[in-house]
Amino acid sequence: EKKRDFEGKKVLVTAGPTREPLDPVRYITNRSSGKMGYEIAKALVERGAQVILISGPTYIEVPKDVTFIPVETAVDMYNAVMMHLNEVDIVIGAAAVSDYRPKEMKKEKIKKDEEKLTIELVKNPDIMYEVGQKKGNKISIGFAAETTNLVEYAQRKLKEKNMDLIVANDVTQKGAGFEVDTNIIKIIDRDLNVKEYPLMTKIEASHVILDEIAKLL
Ligand code: PMT
Repeated sequence: EKKRDFEGKKVLVTAGPTREPLDPVRYITNRSSGKMGYEIAKALVERGAQVILISGPTYIEVPKDVTFIPVETAVDMYNAVMMHLNEVDIVIGAAAVSDYRPKEMKKEKIKKDEEKLTIELVKNPDIMYEVGQKKGNKISIGFAAETTNLVEYAQRKLKEKNMDLIVANDVTQKGAGFEVDTNIIKIIDRDLNVKEYPLMTKIEASHVILDEIAKLL
């Protein structure tokens, strides 16, 4: 018997990687499979929420009963999130958004004429930062994917992005982070208190995260 503790709540979830085109056949991306964000979306539906899932390109099945908005680039994801921000109560940023994009997308395929090729990158908008600026009394929850100084960097992101909770995962640990069906998470609150959890499936981790969010409702 599942709790329906998110009944009446509208939640926006971002998931997956973004894809930043270099030319018509190539792009820069990262290892995110979308699993973590999609499991959170499913757990929310089970617990009664109305869910908007904004996702970069993935190879996994779209969860049932969500409003699904597929996007490609970080700028696309930013625009989609801003478009829907006003209608939601909670924002969960599980997406691995590319921090940079190629300055220009070449119209034609880049040819291998040069011995060295330099690609100029420019900064992408920070979606969860903007959410933090505009959120009013909405609740925002981010993730931090780190390879070192996990708790310190996560706490810094929570503060900078005005988040209510941040879920930190050390992506160098076996069974944690990108691609796998499991995760090892730490949940940090606004007082910078850290709760540590053992290895769990991403389904179990999602319910643990929702239990912590529910306490803030
Ligand atoms: O998709 P999976 O294969 O299941 O992998 C899960 C995951 C590792 C992708 C997930 O657990 C995770 O950690 N997601 C966040 C990855 C990330 O981009 O972390 P970050 O530390 O770079 O970003 C911090 C927060 O700001 C995140 O909530 C991110 O969504 C957000 N962000 C970052 C950059 C940006 N330009 N805009 C953002 O909104």
